[in-house]
Amino acid sequence: MQSVSVSTRGKNVPKSAIRKLIPFAKEREKTGVKIIKLNIGQPDIETPEEFWQGVRDFKERVLAYAPSEGRAELVKSFVTYYNKYGITVTTSDIVVIMGGIEGILFALLAATDPGDEVIVAEPYYSNYLGVAAMAQVNFVAFTTTAENGYHLPAREEIVKKITPRTKAVLISSPGNPTGCVYTRKEMELLASIANEHGLFLISDEVYREFAYDGEEATSVMQIPGTEQCGIIIDSVSKRYSACGARLGCVVSKNKEFMASVLSLATVRLSAGTLDQVAIANCINTPDAYFEKVRKEYVERRDIVVKGLSAIPGVVCPSPKGAFYVMAKIKGVDTEEFAKWLLTDFADNNETVMIAPGAGFYATPGLGRDEIRIAYVFKAPVMKRAMEILAQAIQTFRSLKK
Ligand SMILES: Cc1ncc(COP(=O)(O)O)c(C=O)c1O
Repeated sequence: MQSVSVSTRGKNVPKSAIRKLIPFAKEREKTGVKIIKLNIGQPDIETPEEFWQGVRDFKERVLAYAPSEGRAELVKSFVTYYNKYGITVTTSDIVVIMGGIEGILFALLAATDPGDEVIVAEPYYSNYLGVAAMAQVNFVAFTTTAENGYHLPAREEIVKKITPRTKAVLISSPGNPTGCVYTRKEMELLASIANEHGLFLISDEVYREFAYDGEEATSVMQIPGTEQCGIIIDSVSKRYSACGARLGCVVSKNKEFMASVLSLATVRLSAGTLDQVAIANCINTPDAYFEKVRKEYVERRDIVVKGLSAIPGVVCPSPKGAFYVMAKIKGVDTEEFAKWLLTDFADNNETVMIAPGAGFYATPGLGRDEIRIAYVFKAPVMKRAMEILAQAIQTFRSLKK
């Protein structure tokens, strides 16, 4: 019998930095140890009542496919939503997708050919790497640093990464894992680079609502002159704490690009019908919901930043958006540390799960002493998690002496 062999393409898809430690966590949980999972952006915030009302109001007796571009009421609700932000779009500028990550995949497939290059700011959302592998594009990264709050470097640092194979720049703001909110000037800089060099600017804006301390997220489509290059990737996962709805949209005024996105969307038929109906009703979510959620995240962020900064040798700038913190733990190999937390360490039968930093960088060696924490649990849980982490860092360091 001839043996079968799997593709190199599949094998080349890197394991998500956020999920790769799950098998260790599962084993440890079997022993009765409680694990506080700070490795993944799954918030405990309740999905708005408007979502559940939308589900209850659904009266169709066949759960049919939706149109590939999205149900009309959902697409219209997205138009209303963007108009509120001064982003003038029409229904033909929007295609509904199954979550932001499908949007990134479709955007890369529509904007690039295999072997093309995409410029990214590192550290970046680690699943981007997997999507790039699926689309067979190469990431070329410019580095942003904690010292500079992960803001953009000078124009030349970005421009020097451009080659004849570069097709797009991909950014996220408010950023995961950095929490950095790019200023309007920074978005203008990116747009001007994109326009000057004929590149798409793929702007992942799934954390738009989560900007703190008076900061405001600027959308690529709020920058004049981005009609051809500008692409918004959006999602309801974080906005309405509805990660399981698997819904979002790709938005662009570039007709040729959107036609390709729609072709891709047509191949996978449609996003979930019931989720679309329920999310369409979320347009009625009162502003007070977002105010309350933002307050909640700021409280959690402050606990994490204070807790981490109090640990000797830990550097942790206070992020201005999203719900992640990148922290440097000087002298600690965080790949090893993150695994050890799950296999060996416990304080009062509890431990924490974190994402090691290296998976958020393209440049080998970077991020090895960094961790990412998602502050997705209520204040008392985050406080306890910081206590555990402080204990753990101390113990780990003494073991390594
Ligand atoms: C920056 C960023 N983009 C996209 C996604 C994907 O989200 P979803 O596919 O749930 O919309 C995430 C999820 O954490 C993210 O952090």
